[in-house]
Amino acid sequence: MRILVIDDGNDIYNFCSQFIREKVKCAHFTNYHDAHNFVKKSKVDVILVDKVFNIEEKDLINISKNHKIEGYAIAERIKKEHSEIPIIMISVHAPGETAQKTLELGIDDFIEWEALSLDPEILIRRIKKLLGAADPAESNKAKMEFKELGIVGNGKLMKSIMARVKKIAQEDTHILFTGETGVGKDMIANAVHYFSGRKDYPFIDLNLSAIPETLVEDEIFGHEKGAFTDAKAEKKSVLEIAGGGTVLFNEIGDLNLQVQVKILKLIESKAFTRIGGTKEIKTNARFIFATNKELKDMVARGLFRKDLYYRISTNVISIPPLRERKEDIPEIVYYAVKDRKKKITNDAIDYLKKQKWEGNIRQLKSVIESTAILCDKVITVRSIVSAHQQHILQPVDQFSGSVAGLDIELSSEMSLKDLEKAYIAKVLQNCDWFVEPAEKILKISRASLYRKIKEYDLKGKIRGYSQK
Ligand SMILES: Nc1ncnc2c1ncn2[C@@H]1O[C@H](COP(=O)(O)OP(=O)(O)OP(=O)(O)O)[C@@H](O)[C@H]1O
Ligand SMILES: [Mg+2]
Repeated sequence: MRILVIDDGNDIYNFCSQFIREKVKCAHFTNYHDAHNFVKKSKVDVILVDKVFNIEEKDLINISKNHKIEGYAIAERIKKEHSEIPIIMISVHAPGETAQKTLELGIDDFIEWEALSLDPEILIRRIKKLLGAADPAESNKAKMEFKELGIVGNGKLMKSIMARVKKIAQEDTHILFTGETGVGKDMIANAVHYFSGRKDYPFIDLNLSAIPETLVEDEIFGHEKGAFTDAKAEKKSVLEIAGGGTVLFNEIGDLNLQVQVKILKLIESKAFTRIGGTKEIKTNARFIFATNKELKDMVARGLFRKDLYYRISTNVISIPPLRERKEDIPEIVYYAVKDRKKKITNDAIDYLKKQKWEGNIRQLKSVIESTAILCDKVITVRSIVSAHQQHILQPVDQFSGSVAGLDIELSSEMSLKDLEKAYIAKVLQNCDWFVEPAEKILKISRASLYRKIKEYDLKGKIRGYSQK
């Protein structure tokens, strides 16, 4: 498959070439003329066009010589000659206007850049959707199972949860996930998005406990320019960025009573106004909720609004702690060990089955990870016991020692990936868990940083994009 990117800058091309792997080629041109020559000569399966082109005026093809709408003119011209090639418009602002315009011009789809940065995989999903049956991956879609999302566990309890999740995912109702820390609420909430008809749109995990209280409203609802002293530009709400996707209000129990009222209103009216704004904006995103707090107790103590509790608890899926479903442990361990290209002895698994796992699957996986680093090929009960004991004393995500003054302990057993995870975690920590300053220090694009954050399971700690 070949993707053609038409963009004056490198952002979209860099994003694609890092993200799209295997048998996909990517070509890049910065103006209509060069791109057009290429399309005439080569086979192109899908075209991505930026909306704004800051190029020399002589290279612009739109009649009004307006840099801000050049993308429309390019897409329109290419569509006239090559109506068979799907075109996706990538735009930074004004989703409503872009949606309208793409429709008028017969452009096949548009994606907001902000949405791509939050959920890079939507690009692949949308391309696949446009290419339809021509893509062999498409026919497997229906077969996508929990395992493909990394969710395992073959005990009775887990199986019945999986069946329920699949069923409710397809109904458009709210879901509240409850359960202790580390049981997999985020992971399963994410599966709801994949099993619903919304997976071609972003999944936004809004970690309410990680956002400072003063910024929570701003993060959820966005603001208009001039809404407060620092509001130098407008900021879109995550509800706008999500479009027809899913928003997970994660750790909803951590929301203060004042914002709870606003969330209730949002759920009831499916509309909101940005801070400092007057215009009501409609949203058709699906809302799901998760918490490790006992909301019922909080209601009794006046810490959580009763009306909001009733609203969000139409479907409660309670994920049991690992000690109540020990039969899942062998499978979870098997996959975690396999990912690390190691084997594990039966008595090591027996030992793991006997532990309490107060940190649930997160803790179990961490112990396996730290043991795997130290073991050659086979994880033995001896190595597990020692890693587990250390783990109880000291969480594994604390690093000590020194790499370039960053307090990262080096050991000869450390793989490149271990070091990368430690380094990224440390830089993010030094940046107060904000992404923008970290991406500058690490000198990687926002998209690849987000991908690594996901891969190394650091997502829960992220406080937002920038400190503003
Ligand atoms: N069923 C599962 N199979 C494999 N891995 C899992 C499963 N459930 C959870 N995990 C892993 O456990 C870790 C914690 O999962 P997750 O973040 O979803 O938990 P959580 O319930 O949201 O925790 P918290 O309340 O602390 O936010 C993740 O690394 C995830 O990959
Ligand atoms: Mg969580």
